[in-house]
Amino acid sequence: MSGHEFQSWFPDSGHIDYDDASTNITETTLDEMRSIAARYPQARSALLPMLHLVQSVDGRVSPAGVQACADILGITTAQVSGVATFYTMYRRRPGGRNHVGVCTTALCAVMGGDQLLDRVSHRLGIHEGETTADGAISLERLECNAACDFAPVMMVNWEFFDNMDPAKVDELLDALSSGQSVQSPRGATITSWQEAERVLAGFPDGRADEGPAAGEASLLGLKVAREHGWHAPDVPPPVPASGEAAATEGSAVPGGAK
Ligand code: FES
Repeated sequence: MSGHEFQSWFPDSGHIDYDDASTNITETTLDEMRSIAARYPQARSALLPMLHLVQSVDGRVSPAGVQACADILGITTAQVSGVATFYTMYRRRPGGRNHVGVCTTALCAVMGGDQLLDRVSHRLGIHEGETTADGAISLERLECNAACDFAPVMMVNWEFFDNMDPAKVDELLDALSSGQSVQSPRGATITSWQEAERVLAGFPDGRADEGPAAGEASLLGLKVAREHGWHAPDVPPPVPASGEAAATEGSAVPGGAK
């Protein structure tokens, strides 16, 4: 024993669970997967949203989902599982109806992220990577969510919960456990994790405009700059493609044909 063994926070990240062959994928799902692939000039670019669609149907990246992605995209199952096991947003096992993440990276840790993770774990009686017995909530430790200006940050089904504290954690968990409607402080109504996965696959649920596009803390620098007289520079129109240049001869478009 060297005493320096690497301990991964994602011990389950190495493989798809091929022991669980269950699936809810239907012909409709396969048609939707093909429609995603058709959005891209190179079909294999569709793999990430296709995996989100698999998760929306199967609650995880299932063996059947891996096979379907490979068949539709003309790549190997090893290539699909290599991608699916690289990103932590893809699950190897089913989780809860609500997937709760607590950020414990540097800024959130300084602001109490680890204490919040302990509190969630204690209140739910589960450890990270586990799901409550009633299937309501699963728990994950998250790396930085790029929302450090709202630390400590939690997420529920990929929606932000900013500036969290123990009292807010208790209130949130009570609401999720009892099936109440919950809203992110940024405005979005929380749907189930699988419904959120369908949106990430590119099938809108009509809720994209709920809440502001950016939080106040993220816009503070811009606000101060404007108060000191800064104005956004004019953005020149795009340069015409070469085929269009002749058609715009003599135009005053900056960068266009003269
Ligand atoms: S450290 Fe938590 S959002 Fe960046």
